[in-house]
Amino acid sequence: MTQVRKILITSALPYANGPIHLGHLVEYIQTDIWSRFQKQRGHNCIYVCADDAHGTPIMLRAQSEGITPEQLIARISEEHQRDFAGFNIAFDQYHSTHSEENRFYASYIYNQLKANNHISRKTIKQAFDPEKQMFLPDRFIKGTCPKCGAEDQYGDNCEVCGATYSPTELKNPKSVVSGATPIEKDSEHLFFELGHFEPMLKDWTQGGHLQTQIANKLSEWFESGLQKWDISRDAPYFGFEIPGEDNKFFYVWLDAPIGYLASFKKYCDQHGINFDDYWAKDSDAELYHFIGKDIVYFHALFFPAMLAGAGFRTPSAIFAHGFLTVDGAKMSKSRGTFIMASTYLKHLNPEYLRYYFATKLNSRIDDLDLNLDDFVQRVNSDLIGKVVNIASRCAGFVTKRFDGQLNQAWSPEAQALFQEFADQGDSIAELYEKREYGQAMREIMALADKANEYIAETAPWVLAKQEGKDAELHESVSLGLNLFRVLMIYLAPVLPETTRKAREFFNEPEWTWASASSPLFGHEIAPYQPLLTRLEMTQVEKMLDDSKQTLQAAAPAAEKPATTESVFDPIAAEISIDDFAKIDLRIAKIVNAEAVPEANKLLKLTLDIGLGERQVFAGIKSAYEPEDLIGKLTVMVANLAPRKMRFGLSEGMVLAAGPGGKDLFILNPDEGAQPGMRVK
Ligand code: MSP
Ligand code: ZN
Repeated sequence: MTQVRKILITSALPYANGPIHLGHLVEYIQTDIWSRFQKQRGHNCIYVCADDAHGTPIMLRAQSEGITPEQLIARISEEHQRDFAGFNIAFDQYHSTHSEENRFYASYIYNQLKANNHISRKTIKQAFDPEKQMFLPDRFIKGTCPKCGAEDQYGDNCEVCGATYSPTELKNPKSVVSGATPIEKDSEHLFFELGHFEPMLKDWTQGGHLQTQIANKLSEWFESGLQKWDISRDAPYFGFEIPGEDNKFFYVWLDAPIGYLASFKKYCDQHGINFDDYWAKDSDAELYHFIGKDIVYFHALFFPAMLAGAGFRTPSAIFAHGFLTVDGAKMSKSRGTFIMASTYLKHLNPEYLRYYFATKLNSRIDDLDLNLDDFVQRVNSDLIGKVVNIASRCAGFVTKRFDGQLNQAWSPEAQALFQEFADQGDSIAELYEKREYGQAMREIMALADKANEYIAETAPWVLAKQEGKDAELHESVSLGLNLFRVLMIYLAPVLPETTRKAREFFNEPEWTWASASSPLFGHEIAPYQPLLTRLEMTQVEKMLDDSKQTLQAAAPAAEKPATTESVFDPIAAEISIDDFAKIDLRIAKIVNAEAVPEANKLLKLTLDIGLGERQVFAGIKSAYEPEDLIGKLTVMVANLAPRKMRFGLSEGMVLAAGPGGKDLFILNPDEGAQPGMRVK
């Protein structure tokens, strides 16, 4: 018997101001599969989570609903837990960051950091809403982009030109809360000196605790230096007051990851477990955090530094995953593909989504796509056509012809086939362990194909009609069901509900991973009830319609609040070759270039693309004097929709490569390139 491992795992804590949607479920399903897998292997695995209940968006939403933040978060917590239960996510503890346990650990960790001189103070200027009398987070200010002139842009970045800036640079800024023009106001903030932890973090991030894609990204962050982190917010704020300060609150992201400790503490208190066994520096427990790639900065830098600075152990590993797209695009409210968990559950079986995500999940941080046609097809062909089909083909014979009894012993060939299934147990387990669920599903389905081949070859429906073939028939259907049983045990982490029904069909009280290697002989099974039904595209379409309507009714609630200050996005969402083919790239000759007086980074270019002239505004002034560009060639996106900017119409976009600043390269004239040529 292998040693029992002590494992604590978490999923990121969902914000308490919006509903759970299918994007979230990528994470909770991934973690739940891992948790169930570890338990099935006989390990001691505890899975905790909580609502992330603090911050400005939650405070303002409660105000707009005319209720207290406590009332809001209580209601949302119920909704979240109902949705998670609907998807069979089996947390051992679900708590809230607005809890006494969390107040305790947030204050404790802060006090430790302060005592060790890792907290500093600095007065900063911040946008302030004079009407609402509150400081405004960047996302609560909108105005005109200082770079391209696009209107109605957030205070931190422009969705039109992609520029990032500080809210003070926005033109014509307005508070989203009151509509007032924000003023600048000084305020003293508290900072966590992340830089003090640079040596420790360098070791830790390169020490095998992170996926390679992430470890590589982090070394870039180290190059640009670790900034100290602003951890305080002024009143009014919904959060915990900072001990020893007047009217200052912990920033939501300070106490959010501490919520992992808090939720676990609650579990400990209820189950008589020693908290320190898991969190003390010398703990021998394994600690894993499953998160989305957007919140890596917080989990791979701030959190380990805070833990180390306060004398706790650091995580064994952070497991990040990519983002969900639906039919190749970001989830969209107008197309109905922004699907809430509760809407899905009204129409479809949760096990289907669990299985589909499992087929798509791996240990990397690539985005994954829910392709709805593929979804229907996979579920029907794998779960119904391959797996459940085995039971429905065999069970009737056992019940009708053999009194519900499986046979007593089987032939060497039958034994060999069973053994082949049992022998796969270790390699499938290893794939689950490494979070290569997609590969695990493929191996299980390959076994299902083998089981179906066996049944097709022995053809129990033919044997049943022949005289004197009872023993063969009995072996065929008994082995068929035993193979089905092995498959269900391997699929149990993914399909908990279907597995439970299958286990009851076999009249067994419990299935561990090891159960798969001991076949059932002379065992009585229950009459077979269909385990899963086919999925029809019409059901999916109904769900999309419902989704559109639900979102129209409750539009603002579903938006992800942007308290995430850093976005970890190594590469943009994948596009298909068809998407790429839509981009018409042409060689263009720069026939004129002039500065735009109102915009300090823009040049106004007149381009000859062979088919006439186009005017384009390009942000390349940092690298070129206008007169140096005249006569040069560039590559232009010729079919970009024209965009009205403050200084005129921009009729395309020019491509330049380089790190920025002075180094942005475009083409020199060359005999081969002619204006208007398509670039391939
Ligand atoms: N409250 C923070 C996490 C604090 S953890 C100490 C947060 N909340 S969230 O509700 O926005 O997201 C919760 C988790 O769901 C995050 O790990 C996030 O990456 C993940 N996802 C949210 N939308 C997602 C997709 N569309 N696709 C995949 N995962 C997504 O961030
Ligand atoms: Zn812009």
